Amino acid sequence: MTIPNYNEEELQEVARKLISNFSAIKVWCLQGEMGSGKTTLCKKIGSELGVIDDMSSPTFSIVNEYGTTKEEDIYHFDFYRLKNLEEALDIGVEDYFYSGNRCLIEWPDIIESLLPANYLQINIKLVGDNTRSLTAKPK
Ligand SMILES: Nc1ncnc2c1ncn2[C@@H]1O[C@H](COP(=O)(O)OP(=O)(O)OP(=O)(O)O)[C@@H](O)[C@H]1O
Ligand SMILES: [Mg+2]
Repeated sequence: MTIPNYNEEELQEVARKLISNFSAIKVWCLQGEMGSGKTTLCKKIGSELGVIDDMSSPTFSIVNEYGTTKEEDIYHFDFYRLKNLEEALDIGVEDYFYSGNRCLIEWPDIIESLLPANYLQINIKLVGDNTRSLTAKPK
């Protein structure tokens, strides 16, 4: 699925589309360069799923857990600062990934070998200052 040329005002609709198409897949990986909008999209997805708390970027904590009104708790990861796979294993990422709860993962490359067989691959591209395009592909 491709969602071309959306601005930030349209992001809620983008989140809604992703959820209505891919809700059954629990682990979602978000790829895209710095500033492409991974965290911004995660917040919208969270808000669509009924996250009550403010979703900050988990950059300094690697994983944040949020309660929602519509499904189980969701987990938001940012592996940008992860040094190696052992660090991920120490955090217990496999328990999170196989928990059956929704996982939103920024910078997933380093933990790719730990992902479950079925996950959603979201690729975000910068089109302009305020415009982005994305593709979402079940793996
Ligand atoms: N259409 C859009 N979708 C998402 N973000 C947009 C859009 N247009 C502009 N932005 C802006 O782009 C920036 C995206 O920042 P964000 O932190 O979400 O990126 P990121 O991919 O998570 O970066 P990082 O790799 O550093 O974690 C925000 O300042 C946001 O306001
Ligand atoms: Mg981010």
